[in-house]
Order: sequence, then C-alpha cells, then structure tokens
Amino acid sequence: MKGIILAGGAGTRLYPASLPISKILLPVYNKPMIYYPLWVLMQAGVREVLIITNPEDNDNFKRVLGDGSQWGIQLSYTVQHVKRGIADAFILGEAFIAGSDCALILGDNIFYGNGFEEILTAAAKPRPGATVFAYEVNDPERFGVVEFDKTGKAVSLEEKPKTPKSNFAVTGLYFYDNQVVRLAKTLQPSARGELEITDLNKLYLAQGNLHVARLGRGFAWLDTGTHESVLQASNFVHSMQLNQGVEIACLEELALQKGFITTAQLQRTLAKAPRNNYYDYIKRVCKRFG
Ligand code: G1P
Repeated sequence: MKGIILAGGAGTRLYPASLPISKILLPVYNKPMIYYPLWVLMQAGVREVLIITNPEDNDNFKRVLGDGSQWGIQLSYTVQHVKRGIADAFILGEAFIAGSDCALILGDNIFYGNGFEEILTAAAKPRPGATVFAYEVNDPERFGVVEFDKTGKAVSLEEKPKTPKSNFAVTGLYFYDNQVVRLAKTLQPSARGELEITDLNKLYLAQGNLHVARLGRGFAWLDTGTHESVLQASNFVHSMQLNQGVEIACLEELALQKGFITTAQLQRTLAKAPRNNYYDYIKRVCKRFG
C-alpha cells in the first residue's frame, strides 16, 4: 500500500500566520503539523509516501522531511498547481501509485487514540473497496457526512450538507483499492469547482464496496483549519505528552518500533541532532531498544 499526504491548500483561514509558510508546516506544539499525518500512514505500515504541495511550498517540505530515509521510508514530492480538489491527488499521483492500493490523508488532520495502530493496519490490508472513518461531531455541516441505517450500514454520503442526516463526519483519512485512479478520473467538478473526495467515496458506496469504520469517543480527531483548532491541537498534544511522558507523532520512535530503522541508524541521526527535550526523549527511546 502506498500513501499520499495532501499538503496543499491556500490556508487563508490561518492568515497571517500561514503567510510565510504552508499551514501544514506550522507547529502543532513541538512538531510541524505534517508529522502527525505522516505518523498515521507509518502506523498503517505505509513506507512509500507522496507529498502534494503548493508550488511555492515544495522546497520547504523537502527541507523539513528530506527523502524519508532517516525514518526508513521513501518520500517523494509533487505539486498541485491548480486547487482542483482532494480527489485530484489520485490523478496527480497516478505514476507514483502505479496500480497499487493507496491511502490518502489530509495534511491538517490529526488522529490520536488507543488501538489506532491496529485499526490502521487492518484498513491497510489488501481487500476490494475503500475504507473511511466516521467520527461523531457537533458541527457535521462542515464536513462530509455519512448516514447509517438501523443496522449500522452506511447508506448515504453528502459533502457539507446544510441539513446533515447524521452527526457522523467522514474524517480526512481514506484507504482505497487499485480502482482509485480510474474512478477519480471519472469525477466531474462540483459546484465549488473541485473533484470531491465525497463523490469518489459515493462511487465505492454504489458498488457496495465502502467500509465505514467508526472511531469511538476515546479517539481524538482534530482538523486544524483555524487558529482555534491549531491551538486546541497544540494544547491537546502538550497535555497528553506531559501526562503520559510519551511523545505523540515521534517519527523516530515509531520507525524503530516498526523495524523501519535500526538503533544504529537512529544513533547516527542523533549524533547530528541538536540537544533539546525532543532529541533527549529519542535518546531514551534508543536506550530502551538497546
Ligand atoms: C474535506 C472533505 C470532507 C472531510 C474533511 C475532513 O473538507 O471535503 O469530506 O470531511 O475534509 O477534514 P475540507 O475541509 O477540505 O473542505
């Protein structure tokens, strides 16, 4: 399974904070925002990731993340010149996907919860169809909304409906089989001129091939589109890390746990790293792994 992070978008809701740099590189507490979605893909076992950015931000992403070898993964980069919507990622990524299954995560979506790695690993297993995640929210009209029947089966999907049929938002994390590029190419732009991810998911729903996994109350799903939500996400990460003494989205730790890198490799990264709390934490992790 390959993975795409969509890290474009104008980010105008975060102006002027996002004027100098892509909002997806702004800090969420002690890491650039993109660390969090990359952490999710890595937890799913995805090791080949394409990062889609705005033209002006592409070099910054390369500078921050490099080729991914420090985490035992392969990162490549491409540019979205025109804001054509989320599903455009599969058309831009066609050569990268090269006929395999593909996951997609939006650069501003942060997920955290016990047992998530198991859920992700299951979603990344090869099987026909698509898997999306539903999460109960107060303001479903801001999102893609999924409606369930009495048996819990997904029966409809709507993008930002004025009168939502449920309170279940579809989060910005999607797993697709190898039909995804072909299906994305059949989409027509919506009223806002975009290839909607909800329209792509509707095609899978019509095939009877859309799996909707519900993320329960114990999960945190944060979409960091506004100043308030970035601050909320930073506060959340800060307090979780402080209480539990473990880092959220520490890519070095995860890479080691997953066996993507060895402790010897990590020692080499650490030798070049500055001294601070983050790298002190990684040093402790390294010691623990021996
Ligand atoms: C997008 C999708 C929407 C989804 C949301 C999750 O909305 O179109 O279906 O629920 O991401 O963050 P956007 O906020 O990019 O318009």
